[in-house]
Amino acid sequence: MSTGQLVLLDHVVAVLTAALWLGAGTVAAASPRRVLVVALAGAGLLAVAGRLALVAVLAGRGWWFVQEKVLLGVPLLAVATAAGAVLAGRRLVRPGGGALPAPGVVALFAVGYAALAGFVVTYVGGYPLTWSVALLAVAGAGAAVLLTAQVLAQPGTAAEPAEATPSGPAVSRRRLLGVAAAGAGAAGVALAFVRAPAADAGGGAAAVHPIAHGTAVTELRGPTAAAAGGAVRPYTVTARTATVALASGRRVDAWTFDGALPGPPLTAVQGDLLDVTLRNEDIGDGVTLHWHGYDVPCGEDGAPGATQEVVPAGGEFRYRFRADQAGTFWYHTHQVSHLGVRRGLFGTLVVTPREAEAEAAAVDLVLPVHTFDGVVAIGADDGVLRQAAEPGAAVRLRLLNTDSDPHRFALAGTAFRLVAVDGRDLNEPGELSERGLRLPAGGRYDLTFTMPASSVVLTVDGEVRLRMGGGDDVATGEWPELDLLGYGAPADVPFDLGTAYDRHFTMVLDRGVAMVDGRPAFAQTVNGRGHPSIPEQLVADGDLVRFTVVNRSLETHPWHLHGHGVLVLARDGRPGTGSPLWVDTFDVRPGEVWDVAFEARNPGVWMNHCHNLPHADQGMMLRLRYDGVSALPGGHGHDH
Ligand code: C2O
Ligand code: CU
Repeated sequence: MSTGQLVLLDHVVAVLTAALWLGAGTVAAASPRRVLVVALAGAGLLAVAGRLALVAVLAGRGWWFVQEKVLLGVPLLAVATAAGAVLAGRRLVRPGGGALPAPGVVALFAVGYAALAGFVVTYVGGYPLTWSVALLAVAGAGAAVLLTAQVLAQPGTAAEPAEATPSGPAVSRRRLLGVAAAGAGAAGVALAFVRAPAADAGGGAAAVHPIAHGTAVTELRGPTAAAAGGAVRPYTVTARTATVALASGRRVDAWTFDGALPGPPLTAVQGDLLDVTLRNEDIGDGVTLHWHGYDVPCGEDGAPGATQEVVPAGGEFRYRFRADQAGTFWYHTHQVSHLGVRRGLFGTLVVTPREAEAEAAAVDLVLPVHTFDGVVAIGADDGVLRQAAEPGAAVRLRLLNTDSDPHRFALAGTAFRLVAVDGRDLNEPGELSERGLRLPAGGRYDLTFTMPASSVVLTVDGEVRLRMGGGDDVATGEWPELDLLGYGAPADVPFDLGTAYDRHFTMVLDRGVAMVDGRPAFAQTVNGRGHPSIPEQLVADGDLVRFTVVNRSLETHPWHLHGHGVLVLARDGRPGTGSPLWVDTFDVRPGEVWDVAFEARNPGVWMNHCHNLPHADQGMMLRLRYDGVSALPGGHGHDH
């Protein structure tokens, strides 16, 4: 079973455990009938055993998946179950005997409350367990037990009063427990306000440069001239609202660059200087341009509040950077991007290699897939694209996923190669056919093939979206999915994988209650916190940095670091066996653990976030800062 399935099953069993024991308590309190109580408690015991077994299996997948269960949920459940066995068990299995005495009934409820507390801790607290959450959980369960005892002590309940227990001591014992629970609860609440440390050095040296005296990120601007032999590519891009018709005639109330969906395609040849002036005509929330996957100087990165002020309506900003990386990229606004990108503030950026200019593919299609108002389109075409190609022609398809969820592509009618991922070439990519290609949010795949005499069809999520030379419909849904970690041939990488990393950061992704932009929310969290309360990651120029990204949640998180391509080291502890895989966005599916590494050679303050943009908005975003570089003064802004 996959770790994600185990996580889900654990949730189910936890809730079931609570329900069975609370049910047993309720029945025992309401009627003298033993059979049902015994049945429910018996099933409850089985559920407890199942829960323990699940936690043991999950522990084998990684401590991150069970920490709060092992430290709190399981001990709480074990203590309550033992108490239940002592106080209720013997009476229940003894033949004869009418209603269960009150302490026994309370004990049945107590097991239920303990199970529930453990579930709540897992579901809303998660990893890492904090004192605050632990105290609140214990206080909550304790208060529930006391309240139940109180209610059952009222005359008129079916449960017998506790035999031979004089009421005086019982009450004062309850009072004592009540005070303890209240104290624990109060301490838990108080501890919830303890602030996280501002920075995490990832096991490396702490900051040596005080921020106040560092280089301002706004000074880290790009060059103003092309490389030798390159040209300047001037563009002006204007953000404005517009109603745009898709190919079917469907009209979209969009936020656009230049009134088009997507925005204007930007192109360059390696070594050119991209010189892009962004104007904002009427986007009230403001805009920026972020060059997704392009390792620009940080001052050109377009992260509002971090690398630049947002460009307000009527404002403008000029971006300049060298087109050093050849490949398929895209640009998008980074201001309230969960709305802006979805509504259309994005476009493609394709840089072709200078030396290979002569041998460019005869048919080179840039195919950004985006969902507008719930309708999937390639470019602005929400129907089926048609493309002519001569048999024998070299074809390159550049697939881009500009949505927040993955898309599944398949190419039918020809064998092909996946030659580049996220704008970075793979080593010796082999021929593929009848494979599904799952493209993470924000990611790009470049496919190449030679046009056959017959036809070729591209499907997106099972629907035909592109026909080259006619083409019949094909069912591609059952085709196995290509695993990039085993595709292509190994090759040297610029650093030793077994090396000691200068910094190692672990990011455990989950949902939970956390502060996001100053408000409590059921957030998308990193190590239990939401933006901007997640400690920034501190690195020094030249460091070799490793990330371990763990997904404890039930959703996929496409992880994206600005300013650096990362090399995939391993998934679930297993190293890749194929081509070195350099990406800027990698899908961490439920239960997965990814290890990636990169060299910190691009000083700045870089956003590091989930590229499911609503998730980023709900807290799943932090910063990686180079020692000696300071972000924009004046705090965080709405920088996503
Ligand atoms: Cu494509 Cu921070 O984003
Ligand atoms: Cu996410």
